[in-house]
Formats: sequence, C-alpha cells, structure tokens
Amino acid sequence: MADITPIDGVDTHPDWSRIPDHSHHVFLCTGPRCTQRGALQLWKTLRRRLLELQRIEVPDGVLLTRTHCQFPCNLGPVLTVYPQRCWYGVHSKADVIRLVDMHLAGGEVVDDLLLKERA
Ligand code: FES
Repeated sequence: MADITPIDGVDTHPDWSRIPDHSHHVFLCTGPRCTQRGALQLWKTLRRRLLELQRIEVPDGVLLTRTHCQFPCNLGPVLTVYPQRCWYGVHSKADVIRLVDMHLAGGEVVDDLLLKERA
C-alpha cells in the first residue's frame, strides 16, 4: 500500500477510484438480529467457498459487501444478490454453500432459499 496519499486528511489510493469488475454483487446483512442468528460465521463460509471456487477477487467475480439491517430481520440472516434482485434467507453453512454453488457459480436461482413474507 505504498501509493496511499492523504488528501484533506483522508487516505486515498488509485485503486479506490474505480468500481471493481464483478458479475454479482452480494450483500450479507450483519445487522444486530442477523448477527444474533450467526451471520458473521456465515460470512466466513461465504468468503471461503467463493475462494475455493475462484469466484472472488477475480475479474468478473463476486463482489461481497456486509451491510447493516436490510429490514426483513425476522427472516434472516438476509443475503441479497444483484443484478438478479434475489432476497435470500440463509440459516446454515449448508445453505450458504448451496447458494454459492448454484447461484453464484452456476447461475441458477435457489428457489427454496428465497425469502417469503410471513405474518
Ligand atoms: S438485522 Fe438483518 S435484516 Fe435486520
């Protein structure tokens, strides 16, 4: 990180001026309720599985972002995938691995993990 230059007291780097190349943008909620339901452990599984499949930190790969509350807390941990605008509930490592393999690597929406509103 030798290229870091403070401007107006804020660190800058040439790479921080470009939008990363990506095929999917994934947002995993690490808000308070999703975190209570294990979101941080699922984040590790998500990253690890994407690395195993070489689908992260590569051109046309998956861009990961942790978020605060995405609102349907009762259905979480919540994970959203763009550009398909899929809202998923992931409740186990197995759910995350299946989502990565089918949707992020295979291009197929995982219907049974899609969030469905409930009263
Ligand atoms: S805390 Fe995750 S959706 Fe609200």
